[in-house]
Amino acid sequence: MSSEENKLEHIAIIMDGNGRWAKKRGLPRTMGHRKGAETVKEICKAAEKAGIKYLTLYAFSTENWKRSEEEVSALMDLLRQYLKSDLKEIQERGVCIRFIGERQMLAPDIIENMAKLEEETAKNDKMTLCVALSYGSRQEIVHAAQRLSEMVRRGDIAVDDIDEKLFSNMLYTQGIPDPDILIRTSGEQRISNYLLWQMAYTEFFFTDALWPDFNEKMLLEIIDSYKSRERRYGKIKAE
Ligand code: FPP
Repeated sequence: MSSEENKLEHIAIIMDGNGRWAKKRGLPRTMGHRKGAETVKEICKAAEKAGIKYLTLYAFSTENWKRSEEEVSALMDLLRQYLKSDLKEIQERGVCIRFIGERQMLAPDIIENMAKLEEETAKNDKMTLCVALSYGSRQEIVHAAQRLSEMVRRGDIAVDDIDEKLFSNMLYTQGIPDPDILIRTSGEQRISNYLLWQMAYTEFFFTDALWPDFNEKMLLEIIDSYKSRERRYGKIKAE
């Protein structure tokens, strides 16, 4: 047990298992995503209630573009609906909404609504909900390296000016503290190209629950268990 309680500002989640949830019930995979979208609403509310300042959800990875056209298009339609109704509701509760990822891959109407939501919620400070869409962490790191190289080429910075802080500022997550907790549902124990730079010292929690079955009680149990973990950040144990 650590003597001081661990700081907890940011929870990142890999919402996995929608497809299996649907399959178990003989339903199409898209029904799993639909139910998963309901869980997003519940968990967002629960995180706000628990005083979490940042919640980052992996909604669609760059690799997810390789799924069937039918599934990708169903996910995009769900996203369209989400942008219009559910995220609006979340916005009205004073939550700031941000998107991370390669948004140029998305349809123009989606990009437009994302930008609108970000703009309208920029000053909200109850919590920041960060949605990773068309997101891949390696791509994000490559993109940051390209931006820095360009700055050096232009003579705006010297190579020696590049440090961890400047590098972090080139990532999509600029200004967002690193996650304290990562949760992955559905029993898989991988990080799947998610926030690789940002999770250097994050505490990982894996649960067998499929994302549509994940709930507030499970979230609170993880938070409780996190509080008693000892975070050492590479240092030796304090006497
Ligand atoms: C992983 O389950 C889930 C996804 C790839 C999509 C996540 C999307 C949602 C939770 C709903 C939409 C949310 C928003 C914000 C629009 P999987 O399909 O990989 O499940 P499986 O591993 O059981 O096949």
